[in-house]
Amino acid sequence: MAKGQIKSKERVADHGEVFTNEREVNAMLDLVKQETERIESRFLEPACGDGNFLAEILSRKLKAALKASKFKGKVFTADYEKKAITALTSIYGVELLQDNRDACIERLYKIWDKEYTKVMKTEANDTARTVAKFVLDHNILCGDTLTMLKADGSPIIFAQWDFVTGDNIKRRDFRLDELMKGGKDAKEEPTDRLSIENMVPHSTFTYDKMTGTWMPDPIKEYPPTDYRRITDYD
Ligand SMILES: C[S@@+](CC[C@H](N)C(=O)[O-])C[C@H]1O[C@@H](n2cnc3c(N)ncnc32)[C@H](O)[C@@H]1O
Repeated sequence: MAKGQIKSKERVADHGEVFTNEREVNAMLDLVKQETERIESRFLEPACGDGNFLAEILSRKLKAALKASKFKGKVFTADYEKKAITALTSIYGVELLQDNRDACIERLYKIWDKEYTKVMKTEANDTARTVAKFVLDHNILCGDTLTMLKADGSPIIFAQWDFVTGDNIKRRDFRLDELMKGGKDAKEEPTDRLSIENMVPHSTFTYDKMTGTWMPDPIKEYPPTDYRRITDYD
């Protein structure tokens, strides 16, 4: 095992914490290369550690964002900023250990901020930085992917962010357990067990003819909002 792949024997034994080498990360991501270079393509890393896979995905997406914002060698800065934010909104992670989750967020933020400064030839302003941090805080969560619950027993909820018109983002929140159900079990009635989990509403499901599955409706929807003001709603 290469240096840096483990933090301690105890963490390996307790949580299976062995970090993946850069070479293997790249080889695996190259299996879905086109998707990693598509800015809107959504990725969820269910045991993200400190972000070895997500960091590389973000770097690839940011390269794609630059390419898509350039015309005749000139970068259209407003366009780049939106695409760089989209790159962040489309990557998701769950990690059991709080220190790994915090390290993952910090790492992704630094990649984003450094690349932004390089491309724009100026540092991101406070608003853009706040939005970037807000998105990461909602997309990289501390929880257990096996139970799909957070440490406090509440369900893992992910926000789906879509640029709809102009600068506006539409946010819709989904429960991870319901996103994962799909198919024939999706319409199972929730139990009436009294728990924090059941204090969060369950979705209704809508049949999707294209995929032949029941898709959850969002548990919460927000009005389309200028992406620089998505922090207004929480
Ligand atoms: C083998 S490491 C891989 C980390 C990262 N994906 C990488 O390739 O470098 C597994 C990670 O999953 C986390 N983990 C273990 N059980 C988990 C669970 N039930 N839900 C979420 N994360 C979990 C561990 O804390 C550890 O960081």
